Amino acid sequence: MTMTSIRKSAAAVVLCSLLGGSAVAQDRPVYLDASAPLERRIDDALRRMTLHEKIQLLHAQSKFTSAGVPRLGIRQLNMDDGPHGVRAELKWNDWDSAAWTNDSCVAFPSLTCLAATWNPAMGALYGHVLSEEFAYRGKDMILGPGVNIYRHPFNGRNFEYMGEDPCLAGRMVVPYIEAAQRNGVACCLKHFFLNNQETDRWDGNVNVDERAVHEIYLPAFKQAVQQAHVWAVMGSYNKWNGVHCSHNDSLLNGILKRDWGFDGVVVSDWDATHDARQAATGGLDLEMGTTRGTAPKGEPFTYNHSFLGDAFERAVREGVWPESLVDEKARRVLRTIFRTAMNPAKTIGSMCSEEHYAACRTMGAQGIVLLKNDRQVLPLQAGRYRRILVVGENATRSLTQGGGSSELKTKYDVSPLEALQQEFGERVVYAQGYSSGRALYDRVDAVPAALQDSLRRAALAAAQQADLIIFVGGLNKNRQQDCEDSDRESYHLSFGQDELIAALARTGRPVVVANFGGNAYAMPWIEQVAGVLHCWYLGSEAGHALTDVLTGRVNPSGRLPMTFAKRVEDYPPMQYGREAYPGVDKQVYYREGIFVGYRHFVSRKVKALFPFGYGLSYTTFRYGRPRLDRTQLTAGGSIRLTVDVTNTGARRGEEVVQLYIGEDKPVVERPARELKDFSKVGLDPGETRTLTFEIRPEMLQYYSSDLHRWTSTPGSFHAYVSASSEDVRGAVAFELK
Ligand code: GLC
Repeated sequence: MTMTSIRKSAAAVVLCSLLGGSAVAQDRPVYLDASAPLERRIDDALRRMTLHEKIQLLHAQSKFTSAGVPRLGIRQLNMDDGPHGVRAELKWNDWDSAAWTNDSCVAFPSLTCLAATWNPAMGALYGHVLSEEFAYRGKDMILGPGVNIYRHPFNGRNFEYMGEDPCLAGRMVVPYIEAAQRNGVACCLKHFFLNNQETDRWDGNVNVDERAVHEIYLPAFKQAVQQAHVWAVMGSYNKWNGVHCSHNDSLLNGILKRDWGFDGVVVSDWDATHDARQAATGGLDLEMGTTRGTAPKGEPFTYNHSFLGDAFERAVREGVWPESLVDEKARRVLRTIFRTAMNPAKTIGSMCSEEHYAACRTMGAQGIVLLKNDRQVLPLQAGRYRRILVVGENATRSLTQGGGSSELKTKYDVSPLEALQQEFGERVVYAQGYSSGRALYDRVDAVPAALQDSLRRAALAAAQQADLIIFVGGLNKNRQQDCEDSDRESYHLSFGQDELIAALARTGRPVVVANFGGNAYAMPWIEQVAGVLHCWYLGSEAGHALTDVLTGRVNPSGRLPMTFAKRVEDYPPMQYGREAYPGVDKQVYYREGIFVGYRHFVSRKVKALFPFGYGLSYTTFRYGRPRLDRTQLTAGGSIRLTVDVTNTGARRGEEVVQLYIGEDKPVVERPARELKDFSKVGLDPGETRTLTFEIRPEMLQYYSSDLHRWTSTPGSFHAYVSASSEDVRGAVAFELK
């Protein structure tokens, strides 16, 4: 269509709309007709667009938006961080705050906390309430969730991800994405892939064997694409096989689009685009955050200098690239716009509602993991204590700021100390105990020893007057803690916390430790304290979620989504030296292969401090003997496993029954057992429930690097019904025919 005919039809539409009535419907262009099939809308829009307009769709027009087509009324895409809440508005063109006053949000718990609930219903709730806040803020795309596998406890961004096992991460991320996208808000799954550390994140190259790629690092992404049909995927900063993942042809065009059938849009990570040819042909559709691109020397950068901007347009006009390559990208961007920004079913959303705070509190309390509870110190019997001393900076510090792009400006946070004071009134006194430094971005060792000493002495003096001590510490969002763009440098808690906890325990008062953080850490004081809770990051309702568990209003049911080792040397990569982590000369080698997390600890019988899948309850559970409806599994068939679980305690509680499967005599080296399914079940005292699991042939497969595909060998297997990766409650044998 020529511009004239376009103008005529536009004029006709305007005229008809002035006349009102059905005339508009007849002349309404297909791309504007939300009832028309999506692909027809895309075709119709595309044919009306000039080459320049198509190119404009393919790169940023600001920090967090990409252009639409104003002339045709095709909306721009508004995207925003992050996985735990809708980020405060930044300026159009730089990372400074726009200082709005209407963009404070609810900070929801970290995704490690969500994973620790082992409850897919929490995933669905999370995606629903989060997308309502995004929609209300006029955003079309959440830059999250992230499902990078927890490979090493120093990775600064583990708190944004969902643990060490792809089955758990996949099962938890699918409902989150489905719920968000049902609201007409796209999820942008990240960071695809092998972004398992922050050191050298911009251009470190990951060397990993094909089997680990397919058994460990791809599955959670694959489930999100094939089961949740995620609408966007963010390429990661790092390289794989020497090519940056944000425009890596074999990863994006090969695995993601061809093999998995992904029909959404590939977004680069911010400033993760490095090469014109790769940007054009490597599967990238929407280039964001580029700051250098192809701006001529001395000229200030504008987004048209993006690799997929003017230079790309010139190359197409000169015939270097066919326009079909532009169309392929533009189609995916248009598909995303029609699914979100121009989707009349997109929710209006809401912000900071009672429902959202309630969801935040519920998901947080369900994610808290009870690691130790000696002498039934928990739940706290309020009447037992005259004076409760709360020690630790995390009792008062807001842990929603900092940490990098997932940081949030909250309308309100309730801190652990505030909630404990609401709960126990005047009996609660506070001592900071340690300091993590003046600003979010201090180096870990930036705190003067004199300050630490005075804080510790004050806490120990206060302990003399108390009959219970609640220590609230752990990691925080400073650099070299849980923070983007920096990894930790120690497996121990920082700022002298270990010595402080031990000193508090030596006072003889019972100590309950409630630590925050997205990573495992050493607990040299574990024998000296009575109770330990790991609380992840709990968001705006942190204090209430914590007191709900401390008081027993909520019976803790979280389970660890990653292994807590006794010492960092026990983690698989540490067996192979610096080349395995953090790498040498920007080359990192995943020498441990598929033996990540419990796959290593269980198979090599390395005792964990607290194993993957571990968590206590205020009640106890008994498992019956698992039973199979048959002991031969044939291709296309399935075996039904049933097991009874009984609550043998005095109060209602939830148990996470985990099904692991292991091949008895594998022809290739395989982990002793791997998580294949799980079910969280709530039981009243004395109640017994029969759980059913389906064992299917694909659960028994491994990826063959020789055959370059999944395969399995007939033989004997065991199903392990377990309360954690180490705690097998019943095993039953079966044959694969
Ligand atoms: C950051 C992060 C990514 C985030 C993006 C926008 O560098 O890697 O997770 O969504 O840039 O802030």
